[in-house]
Amino acid sequence: MVQFTLPKNSKVRTGKTWPKPEGATRIKEFRIYRFDPETGENPRLDTYFVDLDDCGPMVLHGLLKIKDEVDSTLAFRRSCREGICGSCAMNIAGENALACITAMEDIKGPVTVYPLPHMQVVKDLVPDLTLLYAQHRLIEPWLKTDTPAPDREWRQSKDDRKKLDGLYECILCFCCATSCPSYWWNAERYLGPAVLLQAYRWIADSRDEAVDERLDELEDPFRLYRCHTIMNCVRVCPKGLNPAKAIAAIKEDLALRRF
Ligand code: SF4
Ligand code: SF4
Ligand code: FES
Repeated sequence: MVQFTLPKNSKVRTGKTWPKPEGATRIKEFRIYRFDPETGENPRLDTYFVDLDDCGPMVLHGLLKIKDEVDSTLAFRRSCREGICGSCAMNIAGENALACITAMEDIKGPVTVYPLPHMQVVKDLVPDLTLLYAQHRLIEPWLKTDTPAPDREWRQSKDDRKKLDGLYECILCFCCATSCPSYWWNAERYLGPAVLLQAYRWIADSRDEAVDERLDELEDPFRLYRCHTIMNCVRVCPKGLNPAKAIAAIKEDLALRRF
């Protein structure tokens, strides 16, 4: 298992322990990072208990149970509950993961839950994704063409469509970017694995007519070349994607362009 560092505003102290559910025989302990920048207090770890016989199986079920029935002040993001929207990404038992597809019973001992590592925290488990979204905007993640639009649709052969497999499935959860040490150290300048995988998704699209322009934007010692193939991004991706491979493919496209 890859263990990651704490969020930027670390110094976590032990916080409140909430009572155990009455009459429960199968109890799961949660230790959850709590931080509200408006209070000016250091972050703390609060302890909660969930009755496994009165709750759905996933970590997100546990968090919803806690928020609905124990402590409504707990803040976290979620939407789809089925691993599609990417919003419930957090650090669970030391590993970046989606809370909605991580089973509580697969975690030995207490379920520790922190926000995605090395990010500023808006509140509790909600990281500030402003920079990552700005970086995503920078790579212009849409089809760019000079040819006038066809009447019905942009056609693509089956083989060309296949080249997007392993790229289009990205749900922008940012589990990879926030597990990448190069991104931790150079977030302002290195685009990181999630955004670079997205960039390659458009470079690899046979219908796109701005490949040279896209490669020009990436040919930069920091935006692209800070990847040192540490491979954390590949280990944590909940969709089984390989951002490191996409980054290598961009580098190869740039190298081939020089000849
Ligand atoms: S392979 Fe590259 S992008 Fe992935 S974690 Fe390592 S340095 Fe970061
Ligand atoms: S590549 Fe995987 S881990 Fe990274 S943002 Fe996309 S889905 Fe999430
Ligand atoms: S709630 Fe959408 S991915 Fe978990």
